[in-house]
Amino acid sequence: MDRQKLIMLPGPTNVSERVMRAMLNPIINHRGDEFRDLYKGVLDKTKRFFQTQGEVVILSSSGTGGVEAAVWNLIRPGDVAVVPVFGEFSMRLAETVELAGGKVVRVASDFGKIPTIDQLKLAMEQQEKVKALFLVHNETSTGVAVPYVEEATKIARDHGAFVVIDAISSLGGYAIPVDRWGVDMCITGSQKCVAAPPGLALLSVSERVAEYLKDSPPKTRYFDLPRYLEYGAKGQTPFTPALPLYYALDEALEELLEEGLEKRVERHNRMSVGIYDGLAKLGLGAVAEKSVRSKTVVASYYPQGVDDSKFRKELAQDKGVVIAGGFGPFAGKVFRVGCMGQINEAYVETTLRAIGETLTAFGN
Ligand SMILES: Cc1ncc(COP(=O)(O)O)c(C=O)c1O
Repeated sequence: MDRQKLIMLPGPTNVSERVMRAMLNPIINHRGDEFRDLYKGVLDKTKRFFQTQGEVVILSSSGTGGVEAAVWNLIRPGDVAVVPVFGEFSMRLAETVELAGGKVVRVASDFGKIPTIDQLKLAMEQQEKVKALFLVHNETSTGVAVPYVEEATKIARDHGAFVVIDAISSLGGYAIPVDRWGVDMCITGSQKCVAAPPGLALLSVSERVAEYLKDSPPKTRYFDLPRYLEYGAKGQTPFTPALPLYYALDEALEELLEEGLEKRVERHNRMSVGIYDGLAKLGLGAVAEKSVRSKTVVASYYPQGVDDSKFRKELAQDKGVVIAGGFGPFAGKVFRVGCMGQINEAYVETTLRAIGETLTAFGN
């Protein structure tokens, strides 16, 4: 086995030894008392993390499963959904709504930027009836974050629409107080700012979504949320849970709550400033303008002439630091550094030094 590298990807991210060890707990009966206690604890901690008194569901799936669940539970053929599209993940989200038979009103901007709140407002106003707003909070593909989640939620609610926030790469690095802001469904993934291994999607379900689903059951089996809610009340999942991951998530959430959400958010903020400033000192410019730059995913341009895949390979092999490449129009021109979960001064320093030394080795 390879030695453990420093995983500075925008997910999966570094996982503490304590969380890794939790996965060695015994396999238990997922219909028995032990799992009930474990799952109830996980649900309770997840509610505190999402700042909700409503329901939450943990799916044995990656984040995409969480998005799929939100879409297929809310959208019925012919429903209109407003979807800001400004990168790979928001593009996929819009396509997922179409796969479910929805009509998508795309509110687009160039990649690396975000649509304005006025564009969003206008798009809502131009529709007779909008079933839901699906908003990616943090576009992992370009390193931009939407600063107007609360305002967008209010606008959508004023139009009688449900509000779904894909906070897969941001919740924990940012706080999204689901109840206070009126978010109907918020989704995150275990492998990002929660700092657990990949494989679980966490989502909140508001009272009004739960009510809606009573009269309008979704046409999906694995992502049938009413069934998850019914089983969740008994401390069970409808289908076999990925047990070791639930142990890990329980421990990772415990770590998060021990630190405190506020402190964790502040740490992500501080560390991201360190990364942006450190890259600027190396002469590397961020893709995002300062007002929308993400605190959890830093996307930065390469100096001219640096070969992306060779650079990242050398960084990983020689320095043991793993970062990601660019997406779509940024492929080959941009690298992305995750600033998530366990992120600390030592990781930031090691990463910046490794990038600087490797650039020098590449003649920059
Ligand atoms: C914003 C966003 N949405 C959706 C996804 C898909 O999540 P997953 O790869 O866990 O399925 C990701 C993954 O990086 C993401 O960053």
